[in-house]
Amino acid sequence: MSCRFCTYLQSSIGKKQVMALTGLALCGFLVVHLLGNLLIFVGPKAFNSYAHALITNPLIIPMEAGLALLFFSHIALGVKLTAENKKARPKSYYMKTNSGRGATFASSTMPITGVIILVFLVLHLINFRFGEFIGATYNGVDMRDLYIPVVQHFSNPAVVLWYLFAHLALAVHVSHGLASAVQSFGFSHPRYSPILKIIAKAYAFVIFVGFSSIPVWIYLTGGVK
Ligand code: HEM
Repeated sequence: MSCRFCTYLQSSIGKKQVMALTGLALCGFLVVHLLGNLLIFVGPKAFNSYAHALITNPLIIPMEAGLALLFFSHIALGVKLTAENKKARPKSYYMKTNSGRGATFASSTMPITGVIILVFLVLHLINFRFGEFIGATYNGVDMRDLYIPVVQHFSNPAVVLWYLFAHLALAVHVSHGLASAVQSFGFSHPRYSPILKIIAKAYAFVIFVGFSSIPVWIYLTGGVK
């Protein structure tokens, strides 16, 4: 590899900054996905129509390819950095980057929570993205009925618990990742760095409560009838 970007990517800071950018973009995806999913509370018509508008948008293929590339780059660089840091020093990379104030639970479990999210994602996509769906018709438009499989899925308490566990892992991961991503571009300020950490924790809390409210509500109520 001789290009400038390749040299940059071979450096530890290069990998960390690309991980930071892809991680921030994935945090943006989570917000959009959560807002779309919350339409489940409105009912099948709103939720299915939203999913239909997305899937029939001509930009869906480049958007999904971009999303896949973000996930792939983030995971591949994370695996590489973790391996390199294990090899280079006994202390974990994430521990070292925690502003010199020692490791937190979130910082020292980044690889573990990352693997949990990956397992969750693979199962989630098999169930909801690549599953077989029956059809629904609203205002004369035929579309996939995604609402029914989601409700069926969350009628199983084991699945609900698994989602809560995975959402918790996701929240722990982003609570450290979000603040650390901004810091990897050199941002460090005695006044604003602590505020950044609070914002990251608030974001993680909203992600956990927002996503988890869906399986819990469906399990308890059976969804909108
Ligand atoms: C209660 C929680 C969740 C529900 C009900 C849910 C529901 C869904 C549904 C129905 C789809 C298929 C959309 C379609 O084909 O149009 C989907 C896709 C997807 N979900 Fe989730 N999701 C949840 C949480 C998550 C979380 C926490 C993540 C990330 C860690 C995630 C990542 C994805 C991805 C990457 C896709 C594929 C997007 C695409 O191809 O356009 N989901 N989800």
